[in-house]
Amino acid sequence: MRGSVPADTLAINGGPQAMPTTEGVGPGKIGVEEFMELADTWGFSEETKAAIAAAIAREPDTSPMLSRYYNPRPSKVKMLEELACQLFDVPYALAVNSGTSALNTAYVAAGLGPGCEVIVPAYTFFATVAEVVTARAIPVIADIDESLTLDPKDVERKITPRTKAIVPVHMIGTCADMDPIMALARKHNLIVIEDTAQACGGSYKGKRLGTIGDLGCFSISSYKITGGGEAGLVLTHDHHLYIRAQNNHDTGACWRPDRYAVEQEEGELFAGYNYKLSELEGSVNLPQLRKMPDQVKRWQKVKRQIVRQLNHFEGVTPQQVRDPDGEVGYNLIYFAPDGPTAEATAEALNAEGIGAHTRGGKTARDWHIFAYWQHIMERKSATPDGCPWTCEKNAGLGQDYSPDMCPRALDLLGRAVFIGVNQWWTENDCDRVAAGINKVLGAFFPSTGAVGW
Ligand SMILES: Cc1ncc(COP(=O)(O)O)c(C=O)c1O
Repeated sequence: MRGSVPADTLAINGGPQAMPTTEGVGPGKIGVEEFMELADTWGFSEETKAAIAAAIAREPDTSPMLSRYYNPRPSKVKMLEELACQLFDVPYALAVNSGTSALNTAYVAAGLGPGCEVIVPAYTFFATVAEVVTARAIPVIADIDESLTLDPKDVERKITPRTKAIVPVHMIGTCADMDPIMALARKHNLIVIEDTAQACGGSYKGKRLGTIGDLGCFSISSYKITGGGEAGLVLTHDHHLYIRAQNNHDTGACWRPDRYAVEQEEGELFAGYNYKLSELEGSVNLPQLRKMPDQVKRWQKVKRQIVRQLNHFEGVTPQQVRDPDGEVGYNLIYFAPDGPTAEATAEALNAEGIGAHTRGGKTARDWHIFAYWQHIMERKSATPDGCPWTCEKNAGLGQDYSPDMCPRALDLLGRAVFIGVNQWWTENDCDRVAAGINKVLGAFFPSTGAVGW
């Protein structure tokens, strides 16, 4: 009987423990004040906020465990990955902490590095290009067409014996022209990495964007179609690419599949980064991604209802949408004959209560347009040796970068008008928006008589 065991008996022999508990307990890791300031911005009721504040105040210093590993409950990050596999019908999805780290992870997984040229579009958020440079490869910028995505003809012109990958970017909810891009890639044995940060849930000829090439990258940050904070996803059908991606995002893959496992496939193990997604972000983004299919359906329905009522006007060119049934449809874009007219029509639309803006021709720098990528134009480096531009293996690679090297992008973006589409617009709202666009464009241009963009 334990009660009769002498106090000096070793615990290992059934004696009382010297240190059964600790008396000292520190405060919780979540500061009530700091957390509540954040929660205040999320629109919770006063009652909910009081309940949250009370719960946090009670927490001991053991909380919170925000890593996906060692958690007592099913990991929200893992659930997010499983949901992504289901929604996109792919065997492998890796959650990472941003769209930028998704791109870096995909590029590294694909083996891009010194000696490789990577073709990127002249119009994309700078991260698509920046991560080519951080992978120490050389970006080659190709022009866009009236879809505002990669022009496959210019891609073909830019392919050299050193090209290793093409990165089509599905901009503003609409798809790049994947058939000719994939045909070029197969012909020249190139890897295709789709940047789907701006078109999550869109499709191209029935295929989900981000699953057509070898790897698909997504941003699921607050500014995107889905997402609540900062997060990203990498999708692939290929097991080897997946474990290399896993390796890159977890400091050389501590968990791959078990903690500190030795290399199981050649090329699997190398020094990586830490791009893991936290459980807090996982718990925010899981319900966001669940909502995504319905969000996309709403946008598609709203945009269709508007565009079928739009008149054609001489001098106004609607954006080329390669798959109207597959685009997400959160923007409606047209090209005016010139920049000043584009701006004047945007101003008139705003006056009607229809939010519209232009991109090019502004004094503000826009890091979606190649001409403003000073880091690339001037071959900036993080180190004084000029790497990767000056690396021996990169000698002779790339282009003579200049702010006028992609004239089509400059022309199109200089006269494009973007109208934001609200997924919650009712049928009546859609009718009024369509009538408003017809009213404004009708005041500037003669109608051709044709209806339906
Ligand atoms: C096309 C594109 N690629 C990549 C990114 C980078 O994503 P994140 O901001 O999540 O790093 C963005 C974000 O704006 C984007 O628009």
